[in-house]
Amino acid sequence: MSSIDSSPVAFNETHSPAIRIWHWTFFIVLTASLTTVFFGSTLFKTRDNIGFVQTQLQDKGVTLSKDQARAVAHGFSDKLWDLHTWIGYVLCGLLLSRFIIEIAQPGEEKLRHRMRNALGYRPDDAGGKADRKHYILVKSTYLAFYTLFTVMALTGLGLAFEDTPPFKQWHRTLGQIHSFVQYFIYAFILLHLVGVVRADLGKRRGIVSGMIHGKKRY
Ligand code: HEM
Ligand code: HEM
Repeated sequence: MSSIDSSPVAFNETHSPAIRIWHWTFFIVLTASLTTVFFGSTLFKTRDNIGFVQTQLQDKGVTLSKDQARAVAHGFSDKLWDLHTWIGYVLCGLLLSRFIIEIAQPGEEKLRHRMRNALGYRPDDAGGKADRKHYILVKSTYLAFYTLFTVMALTGLGLAFEDTPPFKQWHRTLGQIHSFVQYFIYAFILLHLVGVVRADLGKRRGIVSGMIHGKKRY
């Protein structure tokens, strides 16, 4: 076994079936959620559809006031945000299951354990030091993502239970946090996709299939 194989920062590590199933399920459900956000923020934006509803009905001989047209446009937008909320509940469940997986999976598979190993690793050569730095940076982005997603889930739940007393007063603030943090989630996804594709095309070939089959690559 070469030294790179036994290095705790080589990215040549296995992923348990639980984490792989979790990753790809989360990817699909999050993509569905982001699709609702995309349509809710573009095609179905209430403000942009008021004139559309008015002209559509005008053609049928019905004249609607701005307020009446807004109610119709808002109804369609609401349907989409309801869907976003239901998908959000599934995402909350998946986030919770990720925490349970972390507790339940074998020690060497734990993100916490891998991070601690990398932090305690002291290579002498420049290559080893660079690998260590890169590994810690990558795993830190995962920890940052889980933290940010917890904020999305908690603020999302607060928005979903807007009729319950404490959340009623916080609605505006929760909405602002929820809307603001979304951009960090997009940044993570972009960084992650560029990162894994670059890694796979470079010296960490097979990292993506490793997330599918779960075996060591060499
Ligand atoms: C990364 C994932 C998510 C993104 C990018 C996202 C994004 C958004 C955005 C942009 C809005 C509109 C905010 C506004 O215009 O004020 C929104 C609303 C909302 N989100 Fe999320 N969200 C995510 C996850 C969640 C989760 C996990 C939940 C949990 C249930 C959730 C529940 C809600 C609710 C209830 C609303 C208000 C809908 C309404 O206005 O009726 N979201 N979300
Ligand atoms: C919504 C999009 C995605 C999100 C939010 C996401 C999130 C994550 C997270 C949080 C991890 C760390 C898992 C852990 O706790 O150990 C991870 C690992 C990984 N993801 Fe994704 N992922 C996404 C899409 C993808 C896609 C499309 C690919 C493949 C092209 C991919 C490939 C990988 C690989 C190879 C790893 C393991 C990398 C390593 O060993 O450090 N991901 N992903």
